[in-house]
Amino acid sequence: MEDAHVCGMAAYDKLVAEADADPSGYWSRLARELVSWKTPFTKGLDDSQAPFFQWFADGTLNVSYNCLDRQVERGLGDKTAIIFESDDGTVSRVSYSDMLARTCRLANVLRARGVKKGDRVVIYMSMSVEGVVAMQACARIGATHSVVFGGFSAQSLRDRIEGAGAVMVITADHQLRGGKQLPLKAIVDEAIALGGCDAVADVIVYRRTGGAVAWEPSRDRWMHEEMQAQPPTCEPEWVGAEHPLFILYTSGSTGKPKGVQHASGGYLLHAALTTKWSFDMKPDDVFWCTADIGWVTGHTYIAYGPLALGATQVVFEGVPTYPDAGRFWKMIQDHQVSVFYTAPTAIRSLIKLAEADATVHPKRYDLSSLRILGSVGEPINPAAWAWYHQHIGGGRCPIVDTFWQTESGGHLITPLPGATPLVPGSCTLPFPGITAAIVDEYGNDVPHGQGGILVIKTPWPSMIRTIWGDPERFKSSYFPAELKGCYLAGDGAIRDPLTGYFTITGRIDDVLNVSGHRMGTMEIESALVAKTDLVAEAAVVGRPDDTTGEAICAFVVLKGARPTGEEATRIANELRNWVAAQIGPIAKPKDIRFGDNLPKTRSGKILRRLLRSIANGEAITQDTSTLENPAVLEQLAQKN
Ligand code: WTA
Repeated sequence: MEDAHVCGMAAYDKLVAEADADPSGYWSRLARELVSWKTPFTKGLDDSQAPFFQWFADGTLNVSYNCLDRQVERGLGDKTAIIFESDDGTVSRVSYSDMLARTCRLANVLRARGVKKGDRVVIYMSMSVEGVVAMQACARIGATHSVVFGGFSAQSLRDRIEGAGAVMVITADHQLRGGKQLPLKAIVDEAIALGGCDAVADVIVYRRTGGAVAWEPSRDRWMHEEMQAQPPTCEPEWVGAEHPLFILYTSGSTGKPKGVQHASGGYLLHAALTTKWSFDMKPDDVFWCTADIGWVTGHTYIAYGPLALGATQVVFEGVPTYPDAGRFWKMIQDHQVSVFYTAPTAIRSLIKLAEADATVHPKRYDLSSLRILGSVGEPINPAAWAWYHQHIGGGRCPIVDTFWQTESGGHLITPLPGATPLVPGSCTLPFPGITAAIVDEYGNDVPHGQGGILVIKTPWPSMIRTIWGDPERFKSSYFPAELKGCYLAGDGAIRDPLTGYFTITGRIDDVLNVSGHRMGTMEIESALVAKTDLVAEAAVVGRPDDTTGEAICAFVVLKGARPTGEEATRIANELRNWVAAQIGPIAKPKDIRFGDNLPKTRSGKILRRLLRSIANGEAITQDTSTLENPAVLEQLAQKN
């Protein structure tokens, strides 16, 4: 990889030295190189209101101009921006000119319906070109989008529409996944009927399947009809660099999901820069990120990063196991994908399926177009790493294990493919300019080889700006006083004594990571106790799982007697379906255990560590003498 954008460790070290010497100057140089500004900024970092940091604040730009118009102006109008493969295998290609025209038409629709700069628009769609166009259209007119993953329930959608104060919802009639038609519009109707969404004046509906939907004429409009009536050009709204590009709700350790708010200029810079360096993106590459646009990975590495670079990418509507578990490998072969970015949970489940059925084994496909592989969302265990490296990458493709978060906007710690020597299971070294460190609970550095709390010591351009509507929670969640101004990532980590490489050891708060989906234990507990006719009390913990990384384990005390046998199974299933309806199927507990009570101290505190041991099937080694009710431990050890 002699032609890599960052080639060799000397080049990496040089960038780190440049960033260390003058962080604001380093990021400003890159912001001038990678972003097109309407009005150039005069200052990089403004830390006068720390921890509410600002970057490039007096510059103005438009993110959609940067992703689309700019490519057309550079002569890339006919280049394919998106190769879209639908659930049933139909392929369509959308050029940069097409993307621009579609985005402009939809942006005009939004303006015509009265959406203004700063208004919030909720996007509740499945994987589609239209989903990306909807995000770009919001960016074009300065509306702040909040994408809600299409697997969330009506209740969760309602909470997010209300939380964001959205004036419009963009959705589709249905979605197609694994050959099944699933509703989207009907869930929007249900969410709005739950109340609290009074600000929503319009629901714009993309016709995906043509299946039947209920219609509210005063509110609902077909996307294609509205777009046809609009011209394919639209003057972008030039916004300040700090203008909120999007809010994305994610789980925290306490309370309801929080709306992570990102800015425009700094976010776009890091989206473009990390896409370029972490994936060594070149003009001829075909990039495929398998994430959903409902998560941050789909924002940064589908909707923004690749487009900002003028790259060609695959967008896939379906699931990796339909029509069979060879789908990913077939798509890599068919579209000559050169950079492939997916989650360990997908790899682990595909390993199992490939080993059980030779017809879907990757060796049956020509994967020689691949040159770089990526992993995201959770730690990748060395066995999965080795399989990915050998069977997908043919032993020749570097794997970039990218550690980052919704709050970070883009990669924080990751190998750079032409520079960093790889170690399976380690995300290696910080992206140049990211000051990652490991500290103790008082914010003091711990020596390499000793585990601790992962922090980022100095601000970076794509960092979270605030929690939407809750600046106090932003400060206390991410900049707790003890950590002396460091950003608290929420993960534990350890560095290798010799190489300084980072290994992430997992969340240190009550956030679970199930199949790479982030979920708060409190949210699931709240959902369970909301079943007021049945549940008196509930506690939720995670336990390791071979396929999903972590699995949700719920301990429940019912209002009535503790159920056993078939009744316990029946109630457990009822509760699972209830949680799916409250939050979404991804939040369904794998295990549900019933007890007459939960293990508590005499002062009434639930002993979660003990519950984690029980969930794991471990022998109880902790001192249980302070327990109010030791007898419940045996009950809770029984699975249903
Ligand atoms: C975890 C997803 C280990 C981590 C981009 C983090 C990882 C949380 C990795 C953020 C990785 C993400 N290795 N752990 N490469 N990538 N995580 O906000 O616990 O959905 O804090 O963002 O996922 O999840 P989120």
